[in-house]
Parts: sequence; C-alpha cells; structure tokens
Amino acid sequence: MEDLKKEFYERLSAVKTVAELDALKAEYIGKKGKITQQLKRLKDLPPEERRRVGSVLNALKKEIEAVIRERREDLLDRIKPSDPTLPGRLRRKGVGALHPIRIVANEILKVLENMGFEIGEGPEVETDENNFTLLNIPQWHPARDMQQSLYLNNGMLLRTHTSPFQIRYMKSHRPPLKAATFGKVFRADDFDATHSPVFHQIEGFAVDRDISIGSLKWTLEQIVKALFGEDARVKFVPSYFPFTEPSMEVSVWYRGEWLEMLGCGMIHPNVLKNVGIDPDEWSGYAFGIGVERFAMVKYGIEDIRHFYENDVRFLRQFRYENWV
Ligand code: PHE
Repeated sequence: MEDLKKEFYERLSAVKTVAELDALKAEYIGKKGKITQQLKRLKDLPPEERRRVGSVLNALKKEIEAVIRERREDLLDRIKPSDPTLPGRLRRKGVGALHPIRIVANEILKVLENMGFEIGEGPEVETDENNFTLLNIPQWHPARDMQQSLYLNNGMLLRTHTSPFQIRYMKSHRPPLKAATFGKVFRADDFDATHSPVFHQIEGFAVDRDISIGSLKWTLEQIVKALFGEDARVKFVPSYFPFTEPSMEVSVWYRGEWLEMLGCGMIHPNVLKNVGIDPDEWSGYAFGIGVERFAMVKYGIEDIRHFYENDVRFLRQFRYENWV
C-alpha cells in the first residue's frame, strides 16, 4: 500500500491538465481503480485483518480524493486568466461583511439619493462656529450643554452632530439645495447599553422656495418605510433644537411601541441668515438620524456596545449569505 501511495503521488506530480487529472482519478479511485479493487478484495481477508487493512485503505482513498480536489482547483485557477469569459467562482470562505451600521446607513442614503439628495461629506474635527454659533447656538446658549463637547487643544472640537454639514454646504452652494451626509459624531458620554462616546448620524436637509413641514414628513416617511416596511407609522412630537423652528422628534411605531428615532424641523431663519440665504425668499427643513438607533430597532440589538466590540459571532450574522 505504501508503494501504491508513493506511485500515486509521483503520477500526480506529472499531471498538467484537468483531463489528465480525471484519468488519474479513475485509475486509482474510479469504478475499476486500483484502490477500489483492493477495497473489493477486503472480503476475502480474515475479520481482524479486514478491519485493519480496510481502515488504512479507506484513509488512503479519502486522502487521494482530497488531494485531487485541491489539484483541480489549482489547475482551474491557472487556466482562468487565459479565458476571461469563464464565469467567476463564488468564494464564500474568508469573505467579509458590511458592518450593520454601514448596511443601515447605505439603505437610508440610497433612499435619499433616489429622492435627489446630493450625498456629501464633512470633517470630524470642526470649528466652534460651524458646530454651534452659525447653527444659532451662541456662546452663552444653554443648548451647548445639551451636547457634551470634546474640545481639542487648538480650540476646535470633535463635531457633536452632523448639523455643521448644513452650514458648510449652504456656505458653498446657493439654493435650491438638497443634500445629506453620513458620519461619526462625538460626545463626552460614558459607554452604557444605549450610549457611546462615538456614534453615527445621517443629516439631511433641503432649501427651496416652498418647503413645508409636509415635504419633511413625506421624506422621513419614505426612509422609515424603506427600513421598517410599508406598515411602519411615524409620529411627530414637538421638541426643541436651536437650529430648527418648529422642532420635532419622530417616533416610529414598531412591534407594538412608539420608539423615538430622530430629530428634525424647519431650518431656523437665523441659520439661513448666517450663511447668507434670505429667509424671506427661502425656507428649508433638516433632520438628523441616529444610525445606531435605527440599526438597534431594525435588528433587535439590545446593547449599543455590540457595534464596536467587533465580536465575529455578532458580525457574521450580517454576512451577505445571511441576507434575505
Ligand atoms: N443635530 C441634532 C442632534 O444631534 C439632530 C437634528 C438635526 C435636529 C437636524 C434637527 C435638525 O441632536
């Protein structure tokens, strides 16, 4: 049997094509193959010997099968580049997955893009002016305490929300406007089940001549329906943000309860004035979505910390092949 094995490996090393490999396979483990014939002869052996020889033979057969399978992959890999019309092989092992925050963000951004929002980006390190002052939050304003800010040594800060994107965009574009962004925001919060010092928001806003709360409501309804299904219902509850007037919080009816999901409102006239847009001619709406919150509700995740620990058992659940 040692000889048989040695002979097989010598023959295998000479194989150059898939056809040759198939012939070799038939010669050893095919219907009339050398190993197959030995296996058939087992029944002539005395019982103890039959078991011993049988297990060695079967192990050799398994080994040959595996080695041939591997060699076939190698040969196919080698011929593939020469024929670009061959279909690709789907590799499942070792393929990564999108993070659930990214999945939810992409879904929301897709809806916004389809409605004509331009998707842009803003920096994570912001000026006090963009993050607060121009958003109608002056130095003395108590609303600065609503968002515990992380200041850097140079007087800049880590943005506490994505709303400075509105300011940057409105400073560099003239209305009518419709834009959105996705990114990290930072607050001096401790970790617990529902808080993280870094989390993600999607900011969207529009400025035009006849923008109403109706447009805002319709837009947010489209997002919520795309993520939670056509039956999802939204409720607008009065709230307060210095940069919107009126301001509202949106709750979503999901699995039998109202869940607070995002902040929004009509852009405050002072904000428009601050970026040189005439509030008598133009009006706008804005909203800020907590992406973690959406993801937690959508996937039934009870602790926000799961998003940042990168436990593969958690992340694997979001692999493409698990998508429905
Ligand atoms: N920036 C607000 C926050 O982070 C959310 C918001 C955005 C509210 C836009 C209204 C309009 O809490």
